[in-house]
Amino acid sequence: MSDPPLAYLNGEFLPRDEASVPITDRGLLFGDSVYEVVPAYGGIPFRVTHHLERLDRSLAAIGMQNPLAHDAWRSVFERLTEQLPGEDQSIYLQVTRGVHPIRSHVIPETITPTVLAFTAAQPPRDPQAASRGLKVITLEDIRWHRCDIKATTLLANVLARAQASKEGADEAILIRDGAAVEGSASNLFIVSNGLLITPPNSKELLPGITRDLVLELAAQAGIPLAQAQIGVAELEAADEIWLTSSTREVSAVVQLNDQPVGDGTPGERWRQMDHLFQAYKEQLRRGVDRHGP
Ligand code: PDD
Repeated sequence: MSDPPLAYLNGEFLPRDEASVPITDRGLLFGDSVYEVVPAYGGIPFRVTHHLERLDRSLAAIGMQNPLAHDAWRSVFERLTEQLPGEDQSIYLQVTRGVHPIRSHVIPETITPTVLAFTAAQPPRDPQAASRGLKVITLEDIRWHRCDIKATTLLANVLARAQASKEGADEAILIRDGAAVEGSASNLFIVSNGLLITPPNSKELLPGITRDLVLELAAQAGIPLAQAQIGVAELEAADEIWLTSSTREVSAVVQLNDQPVGDGTPGERWRQMDHLFQAYKEQLRRGVDRHGP
């Protein structure tokens, strides 16, 4: 039998099943914590600096400092990913405010953060599934106004995703004040008359690492692009809709609220971007820019 997978918890690597946190952890009691999901293609973490900088920003926004230096995080990732050599994986990390014996909304003055990370195999992208595309529904965005913080308080996201599943859809696009903001766990792009559009970063959405890469790749390829609000009518009339995330990569949406998007199959621009994205991943796998830009 193979060894049980190891997780990282507060400076130690231990079998995942033995890694646990006390019931008085503020991450559990208050959702007082932030997280990251870092894909590792062929075992090599993707855009690590970007993920760690976003972690720094999430922590700063809740008045915490990163308990680990970036190099220390990189070593943790290396130790975790080497358990599944060469495989595509998804690294999860979380930093909570920490454990405190008294349950109080007041943040204790002295408290040691809880730091954990683990990795899980991510099935390699299935090109056939990718070219079938996604079905999505729209739902009202009932989340708070600091969606730029990658906080673990994800109940609204989880319920949106559950509603999507209930309606036979893969994801929900969230609508706030008449504008499409992002998916429950993904960023949103549309193609409208040849123009690639994504909502600008703001406190209403997560500044996605995949989103940034798509913008970079589009700029390099000379694809006309704009960062602008996407009204519901514009979403409904879009020639193409894409959702991006560390786990979904760049996914084409082929059905929106029971209506086909474009001709109901992934569009030309998506094909082009997916190709660019896969080529970028391949470069990483081959060890070019191993530690990412
Ligand atoms: N979620 N928006 C939301 C609300 C998200 O939860 C995510 C990612 C994204 C895309 O961000 P990125 O490209 O950096 O993964 C946008 C992760 C994958 C999750 O919660 O599992």
